[in-house]
Amino acid sequence: MLILGIDTSCDDTSAAVVESGTKIVSNVISNQTEIHRRYGGIVPELASRRHVEMIWPVVDEAMKEAGIGYGELACIAVCHGPGLIGSLLVGCSFAKALCYAKKIPLVAVNHLEGHIYSSFLEEKKPDYPFIALIVSGGHTCLCRVDGFGRYRELGRTRDDAAGEAYDKVSKLLGLGYPGGPVIDDRARTGDPRSIDFPRAYLPDSLDFSFSGLKTAVLQYVKTVGGIEEKELPGGFASSSSGRRGAERFKGGGIAAKIHRGSGSLTPEQISDICASFQAAVVDVLMKKTEWAVRNEGIQRVTLSGGVAANSELRKRMGEMAEETGIELFMPSRSLCTDNAAMIAAAGYHRFKAGHLASLGLNPVAYLPL
Ligand code: KG4
Ligand code: ZN
Repeated sequence: MLILGIDTSCDDTSAAVVESGTKIVSNVISNQTEIHRRYGGIVPELASRRHVEMIWPVVDEAMKEAGIGYGELACIAVCHGPGLIGSLLVGCSFAKALCYAKKIPLVAVNHLEGHIYSSFLEEKKPDYPFIALIVSGGHTCLCRVDGFGRYRELGRTRDDAAGEAYDKVSKLLGLGYPGGPVIDDRARTGDPRSIDFPRAYLPDSLDFSFSGLKTAVLQYVKTVGGIEEKELPGGFASSSSGRRGAERFKGGGIAAKIHRGSGSLTPEQISDICASFQAAVVDVLMKKTEWAVRNEGIQRVTLSGGVAANSELRKRMGEMAEETGIELFMPSRSLCTDNAAMIAAAGYHRFKAGHLASLGLNPVAYLPL
């Protein structure tokens, strides 16, 4: 059964053809990093305009690469939230028009559900139940998954998502956007024990909090690097991934006030900050995942979302799995970040369950799992 998946929830325009929810036939992603880089974060208006330009070529390429015609599709699965509303609108409108014109059923997929089902695109697939850690630019949560559509959220971030913290710290260090891959890289040459940044373990809770850590990095940088505070023009452009829709307009928070650049910090100091910040993020993600495993008595963990591409997190998760016997499912890096193959994978299960969407489908910026 072939399904065309479409994802335009943030800044990547993506289309993929997936067979039976597990086998990728084509997976095309057009990313907008170059457009947003100069603003230090995603500008929603520019993102949706670029989606409009790219949606047709990307879908066309996915179909051509798969070597199939529209008549061979069982359905089209589109991500309808959560995400940036203007971006989601492009994918949803396009999918609806295509379904109408080609007389193909439409299926609506939650972006987080898509991240969970990215693990099913690899050779080794998880059995139910499992614990899913989703760590991206807009979300950080732990869920218990008992079957398709049977999700229980065990914990979520109370403020910044892990990826958002990476992006903001990168920005205040003047390392650019997106911050995750840059910090991951710089951390390799830094000492993770050089600065004791705080870890918000929030006892008795599987929730997360990363904003205190971000502030601690800021204070450190101000004190050691001598960076002055300065309002940046156009606060809207200074937040990070913007996955959480309107929240990104909060003025960009602390990072918005920081002069771009890293003052008098040496490259070695910057690498140490990156390594120490990353160690704090990864320590918390590890600890909470271990607690979830223990509390739920489930020995199976999936890891997904953009931050799941992080080399330190992958290494530590791998070590944990080896030491404890926990079965770990980590999709390849390219399937951790946003892609439409994961939307088609989740869409397969939704289609099989008979959950079709109407052509009146509207995107939703804040959509719970
Ligand atoms: O899942 P994703 O592509 O989009 C959302 O759903 O948000 O995640 C993007 C986030 C960004 O914040 C980016 O900085 C982060 O994932 N990220 C990483 C790495 N690669 C991407 N964070 C840490 N280490 C990485 N290697
Ligand atoms: Zn995502």
